[in-house]
Amino acid sequence: MDYLKIQGIKSLNGTIKISGAKNASLPLIAMTILAKNSVHIKNLPNVADIKTMLKLLSNLGAECEFKEDYVVVNTAPLKETKATYEIVKTMRASILVLGPILARFGHCEVSLPGGCAIGQRPIDLHLKALEHMGAKITIKAGYVEATAPNGLKGCDIIFDKITVTGTANIVMAAALACGETTITNAAREPEVVQLCEILNENGVQIDGIGTGELTIHGTCGKLIDIKEFSVIPDRIEAGTYLCAGAITRSELTITNTQPKHLGAVLAKLEEMGSSFTITKDSITIHPSGTIKPVKITTQEYPAFPTDMQAQFLALATQANGVSIIEERLFENRFMHVSELQRMGADITLHGNIATVVGKTELSGTDVMATDLRASSALVLAALVSDGETNIHRIYHLDRGYDSLEKKLEHVGAKIERLKE
Ligand code: EPZ
Repeated sequence: MDYLKIQGIKSLNGTIKISGAKNASLPLIAMTILAKNSVHIKNLPNVADIKTMLKLLSNLGAECEFKEDYVVVNTAPLKETKATYEIVKTMRASILVLGPILARFGHCEVSLPGGCAIGQRPIDLHLKALEHMGAKITIKAGYVEATAPNGLKGCDIIFDKITVTGTANIVMAAALACGETTITNAAREPEVVQLCEILNENGVQIDGIGTGELTIHGTCGKLIDIKEFSVIPDRIEAGTYLCAGAITRSELTITNTQPKHLGAVLAKLEEMGSSFTITKDSITIHPSGTIKPVKITTQEYPAFPTDMQAQFLALATQANGVSIIEERLFENRFMHVSELQRMGADITLHGNIATVVGKTELSGTDVMATDLRASSALVLAALVSDGETNIHRIYHLDRGYDSLEKKLEHVGAKIERLKE
């Protein structure tokens, strides 16, 4: 297994290019199941989860071809409709094939994803919505078995909770359903917006895009022709590197980004003392004198994203004062706390609220990554720790960050990937 060795440094300097968004790419790859043609996808990030999703589609019979700067996905030959445990256990977002496969073939089996480090991660809302659309759902031997022999019917769906992949799954199912589907309490994340925009541009009329109220006019089983598209930049990768600039008090520019997706993150960084120069596709963070403490509550988009909680918790260890960080979406998303405490951080957990007393001097040591965003928090802490930090189990990091060590090395970090 690989690990990262990081020397604590004083500051970074330069420019980092942001890759395509992992959480936009995953539903967009699943969306190719609705296409009658080969689909060209540009700007997919080179991360493990994307490879896993493409492997899942290949296992089902689709053809995936890697070109110079795009991937061609042809699902015409797709005939298998069972997503097995072997692949689903490595990536819970595999559940995103359920809606499109069921809508296209009338039956689908997907292994239950099981929980993960950050929480139980149920899919009850996905299943309830599909049943409402006419599917018969049974859970047998750890698999969801869904059938809709007469196809899916448009209907009114109200999500009890806002669910990102739940909204994406139902949007894709509704795309081929007969009639209109309304989704109330839909997720508004940019990744869901792009999925809706692409479907809407390719013959599936969707009203209310970007709002919590979507109306999808289904094609009644007619597959769609999908023109080439490019995945939006990854706002969480961008936010992570902005935190790298903030924690090392560096002047850092990130390019190929969409500042409008980062409103809540930029606002919190500003509260903590950072300032920015912003253009339509770049953000430069300017060093702040001292880092100020902050109060953060994670919520659905456009509020502060849970996927940036761990990174800001690391940043808060360097703030002068007491920060309060509340995690509202997942019940166990503080796995990074114990590792940060081992580096010297002063953090107390009461339920889903972390109290961080700063500023604390951190010391390099051996730490273990536990989940994707927790690992990026450890990288940020290592950048300002005294001495050397070895971060183990970085396969978590590789799921969602494209060439992280190369991007950080490029701006002056002393970081290398080694074999255990
Ligand atoms: C997506 O996960 C993202 N993953 C997550 O990013 C992100 O943290 C999360 O949305 C929240 O923004 C992808 O897009 C692939 P949810 P998802 O369904 O869709 C509860 C990362 O780091 N819920 O919006 O699985 C659930 O337990 C990953 O890139 C139900 O109760 O999250 C949670 O409390 C981590 N029943 C809340 O809703 C359901 O059927 C939000 O979950 C579905 C969800």
